[in-house]
Amino acid sequence: MQFIKPSRATLQHVQETARRVLDEQCVQVQGHRFTTPSTHHLEYAGRQWFWDSCFHAYVLAEFDPDRAKDEIRALLAFQNEDGFIPHMNYFNGDAKRVPEAFGRTLPTFWSSAYHSDLLQPPILALAVQRIFELTRDEAYLKEVLPKLERYYDFLHRTRNRAGDGLLSIVHSWESGWDNSQRWDSLYRIRSGRREEIDDQKLALFRQYQLLNWDIEAIFRLNSFNVKPVDFNVLYAQNTEILAALCAHLNRDGSVFETRSKQTSTAIFEHLYDGDTFYDQLADGTRSNVQSAAMFFPMLLGNEFDYSAILKKYLSTPQAFWARYPLPTTPPDTPLYAPDVYWRGNVWVNVNWLVVQGLIRQQETELALRLAARTVELVWQHGFWEYYNPHTGAGHGARELAWCSLVYDLAEFIKRH
Ligand code: GLC
Repeated sequence: MQFIKPSRATLQHVQETARRVLDEQCVQVQGHRFTTPSTHHLEYAGRQWFWDSCFHAYVLAEFDPDRAKDEIRALLAFQNEDGFIPHMNYFNGDAKRVPEAFGRTLPTFWSSAYHSDLLQPPILALAVQRIFELTRDEAYLKEVLPKLERYYDFLHRTRNRAGDGLLSIVHSWESGWDNSQRWDSLYRIRSGRREEIDDQKLALFRQYQLLNWDIEAIFRLNSFNVKPVDFNVLYAQNTEILAALCAHLNRDGSVFETRSKQTSTAIFEHLYDGDTFYDQLADGTRSNVQSAAMFFPMLLGNEFDYSAILKKYLSTPQAFWARYPLPTTPPDTPLYAPDVYWRGNVWVNVNWLVVQGLIRQQETELALRLAARTVELVWQHGFWEYYNPHTGAGHGARELAWCSLVYDLAEFIKRH
């Protein structure tokens, strides 16, 4: 298998589409300018998602930095005094109406009509760093950095439960991989059908509502408590980035550097079993579900020989190197369903993060191959929320805005 460079016309086409899609999904609501995941999906109207917007801002920084800055400003609109930043903002104040699966309006859904009470993968520093790298706008950095510091402090304070540096999540929505087999044992999934999983997610949701979203009470309840490998890698990577951003403004960011190191060390000590990386469950055992999250530690600077993992898993057709890599869970995973939401599909944001990891590990050839296959998938099948790794068929929301990450993948390919 070798890297076959997509044609100039293909690269051009996906980049133009990426810009068009980002433009079309751009909205202005209640004085905020941001990009919804997809205007083709009613559920997204006037709503902003945390890690989606970080991806959008990362790409926008390249050709429309002012919009990238606004995207982040909107994301910070409902940051709490304690530093918390919600995973969803509802600028129309209609948070009581979702998710639609409930089929009715509840008197209170989240604690506020304007935002959710959960987190998403903490990639905010990565987006801000990208904006700063391309604009060198110190005034903007001064504006947002104290908010980032408060946010990453909050994560440390509330989610590093055991003090071992590994952060816990309390709902699969916090992982960004809502319906993955990674959470099946916690939700006691039997059929893997979408309705079954949605029921379990909402049942958990109801429990948290009754606790008024008090995070201490939620942890005492202990219904869902996982230390996911990817969430922790992204936290370690982003606190490392935050420390560097602090240094630009002569602020003391050493505490973030220390925390980043503590989390990275814990990932290699506790989430690696000698073969691959896994999530850790509440009882301290490792999950036995393999996923593309096993490649995320490459995003960190730790010395580690990835050659065995890459050979055995990433570049093996029976594992992750499908016709269109990478399925989020490999075909031999129980209840694998490549057309069902998060049950073994290709997601452009996951591929992009793995490409970044490969680049950091100087696995350039492999990074180029994965970038090229992702660009071709999107070129052949269009912009979709997720794809079947064997046929390329697109599913879910049409023209999902974070697919615009292919803009960045195409830039990377062009440079080689
Ligand atoms: C789904 C995805 C989540 C994403 C959101 C908006 O819930 O699982 O990762 O942030 O849609 O695109």
